[in-house]
Amino acid sequence: MPGPFSVPGTNAVVTGAAGGIGRAVAARLLADGAAHVVIADRDADRARAAAGGLGPRASWEAFDVADEQAVAAAVDRVWDRAGPVDLWCSNAGVGAGEGLGDDADWDLSWRVHVMAHVYAARALFPRMAGRGGHFMVTASAAGLLTNLDTAPYTVTKHGAVALAEWLAIRHADDGIGVSCLCPQGVNTAMTAGDGASASTRLGGEYLEPEDVAQAVAAALRDGRFLILPHPEAADYELRRAQDRDRWLKGMRKAWAKLKGA
Ligand SMILES: NC(=O)c1ccc[n+]([C@@H]2O[C@H](COP(=O)([O-])OP(=O)(O)OC[C@H]3O[C@@H](n4cnc5c(N)ncnc54)[C@H](O)[C@@H]3O)[C@@H](O)[C@H]2O)c1
Repeated sequence: MPGPFSVPGTNAVVTGAAGGIGRAVAARLLADGAAHVVIADRDADRARAAAGGLGPRASWEAFDVADEQAVAAAVDRVWDRAGPVDLWCSNAGVGAGEGLGDDADWDLSWRVHVMAHVYAARALFPRMAGRGGHFMVTASAAGLLTNLDTAPYTVTKHGAVALAEWLAIRHADDGIGVSCLCPQGVNTAMTAGDGASASTRLGGEYLEPEDVAQAVAAALRDGRFLILPHPEAADYELRRAQDRDRWLKGMRKAWAKLKGA
């Protein structure tokens, strides 16, 4: 049965690590003694620059996490070049689709927030089975609660949480640990354009990516599935589960206040 994950001496891959939360998680893993961390991103220039800034134990790979063949080829390359992967942080994400969005927003969000994790698990889990490993999915507090500005983001992040739970249950016997990162607002490129009425503000203060990375490190050490850098998200989730109608009423009020502000 997987338990706590010990970082020192391990090989890790972090997707969406050219900046933001992914880059901070990669830096934290290196500071905590990881032997090697691969900065993976679809943006080759930024991935190269991020790896360059993280020192000799970081390297980079450019691929699209939503392209299954590219993911499988990247897993092969990393395994050949750096050895077995002990930790895969499936972190890349996109902010697409205001309101109900259009079909392209739904398609992109589904592929990046759900299928990317499926593709990584398909390529990795047969290799990790038996020898052990850890798979972290970056979902969002929007996947536990809701993000009122965007349905495609909210719904696909709920999918990410559900998938992470499924993997955690079904693959524990293979010695594979799974965790699910669900932050509220974090100061990254994704939220750089958030105005005063962005619904992410409902969760309160935005954290810095380094705070999130610290929460990830603590949860890996403790062997916890759900990683909540904003601890109050657990309370919100509890309230939602206890009385769904009351929670919906509260969210409608909060939405009205936010948009009237
Ligand atoms: N910033 C927040 O407030 C917040 C809150 C909750 C969850 N998240 C999640 O955290 C994760 C990281 O986001 P961030 O805030 O650091 O944003 P970010 O925009 O700084 O980082 C996302 C990275 O993912 C990469 N990426 C996007 N699509 C990709 C693809 N198809 N293949 C490979 N790389 C791809 C981008 O190039 C970018 O470097 C995302 O999954 C996001 O949904 C962010």
